[in-house]
Amino acid sequence: MTSQELRKKFLEFFEQKGHTIIPSASLIPENDPTVLFTTAGMHPLVPFLLGEKHPGGNKVTSCQKCIRTGDIDEVGDATHLTFFEMLGNWSFGDYFKDQAIDMSFEFLTSSQWLGLDKNLLAVSVFAGDGDAPFDTEAFEKWKSLGISEKRIAKLPKKNNWWGPAGETGPCGPDTEMFYWTGDPNEIPESFNDDHPLWVEIWNDVFMQYNKTKEGTYIPLAQKNVDTGMGLERVVSILNKTDIYSIDTFKPIIETIEKLSGKKYGEYTKEFRIIADHIKAGVFMIADGVIPSNAGAGYVLRRLLRRQIRLSRSITMKNDYAQFVSLIDNCYGDIYPNIRKNKPLIIAELDNEFTKFIKTLEIGLRVINDLFKKSDDIEMFSLNDDTLFNLYQTYGFPVELSLEEINRERGRRGSPFMDESLKEQYLKRFFNKMSEHQELSRTSSAGVFKGGLADHSEISTKYHTATHLLLAALREILGPEVYQKGSNINAERMRFDFNYAQKLTPEQIQSVENLVNKNIAENLEVKMQTMPKEEALKSVKVSFDESKYGDVVKVYTIGDFSSELCGGPHVEFTGQIGSFRIIKEEAVSSGIRRIRAIITP
Ligand code: ALA
Repeated sequence: MTSQELRKKFLEFFEQKGHTIIPSASLIPENDPTVLFTTAGMHPLVPFLLGEKHPGGNKVTSCQKCIRTGDIDEVGDATHLTFFEMLGNWSFGDYFKDQAIDMSFEFLTSSQWLGLDKNLLAVSVFAGDGDAPFDTEAFEKWKSLGISEKRIAKLPKKNNWWGPAGETGPCGPDTEMFYWTGDPNEIPESFNDDHPLWVEIWNDVFMQYNKTKEGTYIPLAQKNVDTGMGLERVVSILNKTDIYSIDTFKPIIETIEKLSGKKYGEYTKEFRIIADHIKAGVFMIADGVIPSNAGAGYVLRRLLRRQIRLSRSITMKNDYAQFVSLIDNCYGDIYPNIRKNKPLIIAELDNEFTKFIKTLEIGLRVINDLFKKSDDIEMFSLNDDTLFNLYQTYGFPVELSLEEINRERGRRGSPFMDESLKEQYLKRFFNKMSEHQELSRTSSAGVFKGGLADHSEISTKYHTATHLLLAALREILGPEVYQKGSNINAERMRFDFNYAQKLTPEQIQSVENLVNKNIAENLEVKMQTMPKEEALKSVKVSFDESKYGDVVKVYTIGDFSSELCGGPHVEFTGQIGSFRIIKEEAVSSGIRRIRAIITP
């Protein structure tokens, strides 16, 4: 069965059961700032799960394109993907557990539909905890359908609870369906969800709760069903192949073989990751993401750079145009954005490639020169500074250096194959980095006192004030608020951010008070430089700007604010003076603007 056939069958089955077929939404969530990507079919449906009326009625079905980066380390195994399609059916207060399970079972096992062997099926149900009870209904239902108790696992929230997709929203217990992908004669009597040959194929979520900001679970007035079936996994099971050999991957894998002259069988993991990341990249750009240093753009950049590194490692020629055409052939009729944006997609991919290759090449040359100078791997003794200098001068990530050394010199032995030596080296590396920052901080402070023309004192104060303002907005309005632009001159600041409504006078007052409170506390403004990957782990604030390199400066203000930024800033918030919001207005849909001034 092809992907196209499964998509059609699924939607047809649920249409026959009274569901309205709805199209896939964009990979970029439209009205949900709590997540970067659409990770499940339920995403675009949140308002309807919360009670709003869906124009298609209270039963709908779809095939939704999704991106999940949470499983990124598992991509390359036989079942995990970054981009995938999720088939789903929903009940907004219509049917609940009994009918949902009946339909899942019928679609999977009926010879008219998928005809899977019910003896190779296993399921899991929610075991119950302080927030919600054991799911007896689901458990009894599966038994009544002939699933033996040994094939019904009772699992905790970690396994059998779904949502909310962001920090708050609809959620509930779920029941997951697994299929035995090993030799049917070797199927274990009992089901164990850790066994890699039991592959999860479908999840029926019973959305009965809304999780609030405070972390409590409030029962929803309307009981919903939200299901998700992994299209690629099911196609691979029906065809008894791995996920990368199904119709929507095969041409990509074959092209990698052609462009690299290597065999999938020999470089399986590399091939899989390259294919997965290229496909995810094409879909992201088609839906409007551009490689950058923050948010969705940063995820895209990381995927592409990883793909480029792996492609180099198997000496694959670069030919994005070919991949985009193949992907368009597979998906273009269903997801028109690929065809519509084809030239742009190819240009963005090529552009990122060129940028990254430049950095990569400089770094690799330096590393190779080292090897030329001496064959002796002692060269990389723990006291060697070459990699540090490489990082300082070109922003070449140390992790990449170590990887390259391991890869190039692996056979002859590299000290970094030893995890504990590697750790020691990295520790020294990062210590050195902190030392260096102290130095540069002191010296730039000196320069600063001398007074650089383009950083007039007042602009600097305004600049620090924008950081306080953003932190205050996020505290008062919610963490979904991000900076969307800013403009400073000697008279005032203008600051744009995302927020759906006009701020109330009380909110404006609270924001202003909070900024002034942090000024009154005379907090120290500290700067650190670090690899961007490192920074993004702890810095909560995100930008859509691509002006940051691989090494970034992070400015923190007490415990109140932490942002990636080029600077400069005042040393203590007390130097800012008094902060006042003059105006709050709309700039465009979902974007607000604040004008503010500071006075001595
Ligand atoms: N929303 C559920 C999932 O993604 C169906 O697994």
